[in-house]
Amino acid sequence: MKNIAICGSSLAGLTTPESFVETIKIEDVLVHCGLVHTQEPNFIPNDPIHREQVLVKKYAFSCNYRDKNLILKMATAGLASSFYAIGSEFAGTVVAVGAAVTDFRVGDRVMADNHYADFEIGGVAPGIPSNNSSREYQIFHPAKLIKIPPEMPDEVAAAFGLGAQTSYSMIRKLDLTNGARILVTAARSNTSLFIIQALQQYDVEIYATTTSPAFVTKLEQMGVKTVIPIDPNLQNLKDDPTLAAIAHQIEGFNAVIDPFFDLHLGRVVDLMALNARYITCGFYDQYSNFTGKLFEYRGQSMGAIMATVMLKNLHIIGNCLGQTGDLKNALQDYADGKLKMTLDSVFSGNQVGAFFERTYNASDRLGKVVYRYS
Ligand SMILES: NC(=O)c1ccc[n+]([C@@H]2O[C@H](COP(=O)([O-])OP(=O)(O)OC[C@H]3O[C@@H](n4cnc5c(N)ncnc54)[C@H](OP(=O)(O)O)[C@@H]3O)[C@@H](O)[C@H]2O)c1
Repeated sequence: MKNIAICGSSLAGLTTPESFVETIKIEDVLVHCGLVHTQEPNFIPNDPIHREQVLVKKYAFSCNYRDKNLILKMATAGLASSFYAIGSEFAGTVVAVGAAVTDFRVGDRVMADNHYADFEIGGVAPGIPSNNSSREYQIFHPAKLIKIPPEMPDEVAAAFGLGAQTSYSMIRKLDLTNGARILVTAARSNTSLFIIQALQQYDVEIYATTTSPAFVTKLEQMGVKTVIPIDPNLQNLKDDPTLAAIAHQIEGFNAVIDPFFDLHLGRVVDLMALNARYITCGFYDQYSNFTGKLFEYRGQSMGAIMATVMLKNLHIIGNCLGQTGDLKNALQDYADGKLKMTLDSVFSGNQVGAFFERTYNASDRLGKVVYRYS
């Protein structure tokens, strides 16, 4: 079976003839990546180990921000003769079911359910079911899978779940009121693109910041009222005249949705309204220990942030992934034509280096990048 993998430096000579490895750079680190063939898992439906499991054959997968950490970790600290199958989302088909499985049948199209909450079924951990989702065949507990609606193409399904489940969860937790003024940061990030698309169903005004001025028009076409290009080096976003003027005019943002708290929290609290809500699902500094490029924090100190949080009665909310209900709602909205998904490009065959280049290095990328097995 096929795996798209990050490979050790001496793996090229050890792989089968149909496998290949090529070298690219991510964050100036040499990354050997390729297609590696391995044995399929041996799935036995009546075996006690597999009775409550299903075997899935993937036809496409994608990577996310967190995978960059795993890629750079393998590239800098992995065994030279080893490889690491990468990927955190997939679309596939059920090809075998355990004897005790009732929810899925052979032929069902499935993707991951990243449900993250306080439950554990039969030893199944909550959250992303696999960080090796490019494995062509993989065994899952049915609780970690959800059916793909027929309206959704394979390529969309392979890049939809994580962003959709997370953004629907964040919007749910904000409990938005009609007319709310919302600031979305890092507008071009995949997460924020999902949020902007998901917010289209709400009676709210969306404002967004970006460090990519070239995308202002496209983001406004998606339904953002005003996109504000910002200087990433500002110590406080209230020092941006456009943003400061908007915040003054609307008496502060009622909600801020932020995929990178270490980039924005300490720079946005001064722009928020009394009783406003701030929600985040992640942070930027996830791989500097592998690149040697130190992360330079910009923004107010924790003390200054918390003083503002207290004086304005702000709510600071954390969000990890979402619940099954969030993903179900997003899938239904997609099927009903109410939710769009921003897909940048699809790669296949020997385009493995190109897939990673586009995912992590392309300054003109807008949306998710998918690799499809041919
Ligand atoms: N916990 C969860 O549930 C969950 C789920 C999904 C994602 N996440 C997290 O969400 C975050 C975003 O992930 P993603 O996949 O959406 O990321 P992404 O698509 O790789 O984000 C890229 C964008 O981040 C912004 N950016 C990058 N470097 C920057 C810098 N130095 N200064 C300012 N902005 C910068 C830019 O936005 P602009 O071009 O617009 O400035 C850039 O286009 C990550 O922290 C990830 O771990 C968490």
